[in-house]
Amino acid sequence: MRKAFVAGNWKMNTDSHTSVNLAESIASGSLEIAGASVDVAVCPPFVYLQAVVKTLSASNISVGAQDIYVERQGAFTGEISASMLKDIGCNYVLCGHSERRHVIGETDELIKKKITAAISGGLLPVLCVGELLAERQANQTNEVVTRQIKSGLAGLSAEKVSAVTIAYEPVWAIGTGLTATPQQAQEVHAFVRKLLLQMYDGQLAEDIRILYGGSAKPGNAADLMRQQDIDGLLVGGASLNADDFLAIIRAAV
Ligand code: PGA
Repeated sequence: MRKAFVAGNWKMNTDSHTSVNLAESIASGSLEIAGASVDVAVCPPFVYLQAVVKTLSASNISVGAQDIYVERQGAFTGEISASMLKDIGCNYVLCGHSERRHVIGETDELIKKKITAAISGGLLPVLCVGELLAERQANQTNEVVTRQIKSGLAGLSAEKVSAVTIAYEPVWAIGTGLTATPQQAQEVHAFVRKLLLQMYDGQLAEDIRILYGGSAKPGNAADLMRQQDIDGLLVGGASLNADDFLAIIRAAV
């Protein structure tokens, strides 16, 4: 049985006060369930990570970063390494989020290096994949997701891949209010699991968690979570409101 996992991606939002307040409210509202019935993580901007780690130190909520760089240290102005994130108490890191792929221009090749760097540095990467609207309309969803997963995990042993969570986030559903229907999401999740089964052994494909992301909210979380291959949610906008995020966490239990 895969344990449900709900992660909040705060993107480039909050400030030094609201990040800590939001973390506090999420921790106090999920005392009994976070960690016990559902894994919960929040991914604040880099500059608030340490304050949020401290705020959540007595809770069972993990902290993740939204990105990392591929090198361990050195002359890489502006970048943050896996060991730095580990050093301040981060457990997770998002890799290949659609905004990094399509706004910042990250390639499959760079994202693969980030996944490898994250695992080598002791972090648990969340590999984000998903098709653009035009790709869905051209029936290329499976092809795009296959390319992103095969490339993202290239060269990694099954043991290393067991540290990875996959997040299927159709780009047309992110921040748009348009959610994939539970059936549309389930179809892709089942396809991803089948792909993992072809790439690795049966147990790994059974155990790996596949999250859905894209306008997840209190009103659709339970329906999404009822799908057989949806193991959790990667939540953007709704994770910035403690009540909404807590409702989503409860729906995942
Ligand atoms: P959204 O973002 O929930 O605001 O659509 C999801 C994500 O980008 O991870």
